[in-house]
Amino acid sequence: MTPIVPRILIAASLYLLTSSMPVLASADDPLTEEAKQIIKEFSGQLQSELKAAIESGGPVGAISVCKDRSPAIAAELSEASGWEVGRVSLKTRNTKLGTPDAWETRVLESFKARLAEGQPAETLSQAEVVEDDQGRRTFRFMKAIPTQEVCLACHGKTIAAPVAQALDEHYPNDRARGFEVGDIRGAFTLSKPLTE
Ligand code: HEC
Repeated sequence: MTPIVPRILIAASLYLLTSSMPVLASADDPLTEEAKQIIKEFSGQLQSELKAAIESGGPVGAISVCKDRSPAIAAELSEASGWEVGRVSLKTRNTKLGTPDAWETRVLESFKARLAEGQPAETLSQAEVVEDDQGRRTFRFMKAIPTQEVCLACHGKTIAAPVAQALDEHYPNDRARGFEVGDIRGAFTLSKPLTE
């Protein structure tokens, strides 16, 4: 629980910001908590399926986990939660699913800047209430996805020939290579319409 004085300061700065900018949601917002919980499930399920697939069939066999299971898990979670759930990146592999919109691009750029300032990738997130030109408000949340050792087989600087070949077949415009541990691979992106 945030002490009362910081709360007043947060409220005051929110008030000042809202006159010219979209509303920034505070970190202990229940919607933020809900979004984080969904991301935990998404990320946990992906990582365990990825690990199991790599152990049984190596990285070539595991490509299907990322290709088919990731969008399927995202769709299941969206269906169950009422949130729209996905993953985006500034350097996409799947351009259809992974290309960020203007707001997401701005947040990904800000994550990049915060990483360069020394904030670790796993700590980066952003919550915001945005309003479209029809006055509809949407809660949006993004959380950076750090590159880990296990990701390098398919997103690293040196990718084994059979893996590279399989990736080339499916993703002729693949830009999601050349990453190092600690880099921001992309971000989870969640949104929920707000009804009043
Ligand atoms: C076995 C190969 C493989 C491994 C290992 C792997 N990925 Fe991927 N990754 C892919 C493929 C294939 C896609 C494209 C999925 C699709 O078509 O939606 C992808 C897509 C993504 C995307 C969506 C954005 C984009 O570029 O299209 C993110 C984010 C991502 N991977 C992060 C990771 C992270 C983080 C790890 C390590 C924990 C990881 N990946 C490990 C193959 C892999």
